[in-house]
Amino acid sequence: MKRILITGAAGFLGSHLCDRYMAEGYEVLGMDNLLTGNMDNIAHLMAEERFSFYHHDITKFIHIPGELDYILHFASPASPIDYLKMPIQTLKVGSLGTHNVLGVAKAKNARMLIASTSEVYGDPLEHPQSEEYWGNVNPIGPRGVYDEAKRFMEAMTMAYHTFHGVDTRIVRIFNTYGPRMRLDDGRALPTFFRQAMQNEDITVFGDGMQTRSFCYVDDLVEGIHRLLMSDYHLPVNVGNPVEITIKQSAEEVVALTNSTSKIIYLDLPKDDPKVRQPNITKAKEILDWEPTVKRSEGLVKTYEYFKTVL
Ligand SMILES: NC(=O)c1ccc[n+]([C@@H]2O[C@H](COP(=O)([O-])OP(=O)(O)OC[C@H]3O[C@@H](n4cnc5c(N)ncnc54)[C@H](O)[C@@H]3O)[C@@H](O)[C@H]2O)c1
Repeated sequence: MKRILITGAAGFLGSHLCDRYMAEGYEVLGMDNLLTGNMDNIAHLMAEERFSFYHHDITKFIHIPGELDYILHFASPASPIDYLKMPIQTLKVGSLGTHNVLGVAKAKNARMLIASTSEVYGDPLEHPQSEEYWGNVNPIGPRGVYDEAKRFMEAMTMAYHTFHGVDTRIVRIFNTYGPRMRLDDGRALPTFFRQAMQNEDITVFGDGMQTRSFCYVDDLVEGIHRLLMSDYHLPVNVGNPVEITIKQSAEEVVALTNSTSKIIYLDLPKDDPKVRQPNITKAKEILDWEPTVKRSEGLVKTYEYFKTVL
């Protein structure tokens, strides 16, 4: 039986990955310090024999008994509200945490995939963003704590690959949505849902003409699995190239929820990216992957989930 360690297991993406590898018949070891995660996301797995949970802060030394085949490193605050509230923890988990997890991968001879992000491209001067683009990041701006932690994480991972021969994979994840997102995490979609479902004003930043592309979580998980199973160690973008404006996205949520909410416009936060769209040529060629879930379907599934928590 294959054994996989998943850091950030109680979070949005980590918990879906736990489900995926349980379904694949693996022994799954979930690790999380519950900084932004929630045990409800993995409560259904706790009684499973093949699942175990380690309540642990990965910025501290990590001890895992036995062998490991794979590691998925997903621990990190991920939404702007979270990382602006916890800047030091965010920098520490991306740097010290990643170093510790790479140490485990080296000691166990395990293949390790790290969750990087489209934020390594910053406020991009190239559009859509391909993996060869180096990015436009303000290191000392408010978002620098997240963006630079992730850039460091990629550099450290490449160094372990080159100097220690660790078998690594790097996924650059673009905005992903789906069940188990937190309604209060400050990201655009859950915020629009929370406001629309309570018939409150929908708060759009700027004029709402900035763009994003949203990938449904099941598509992302499939892309991650294919990358983990591939032999490609350079970064790969995984996201949905269908691009919409934030205003359009708010209108879709209002329509879906039959809300009476009105859209109001607030000042744009500092360094907010104006455009965001992945170039997924590499994922198509190397992984034979592209998203299959339409936004209309994904939003309905997400709405069904939010109804159970609000
Ligand atoms: N959701 C997205 O759209 C998106 C986009 C790009 C990248 N990512 C990356 O994917 C990963 C998961 O994101 P998410 O959306 O599931 O966020 P999340 O906040 O739901 O999950 C992150 C998890 O990591 C845990 N964690 C944080 N610091 C830790 C530490 N020191 N030790 C142990 N656990 C710790 C949190 O408690 C949480 O359960 C992150 O690395 C994030 O940067 C996510």
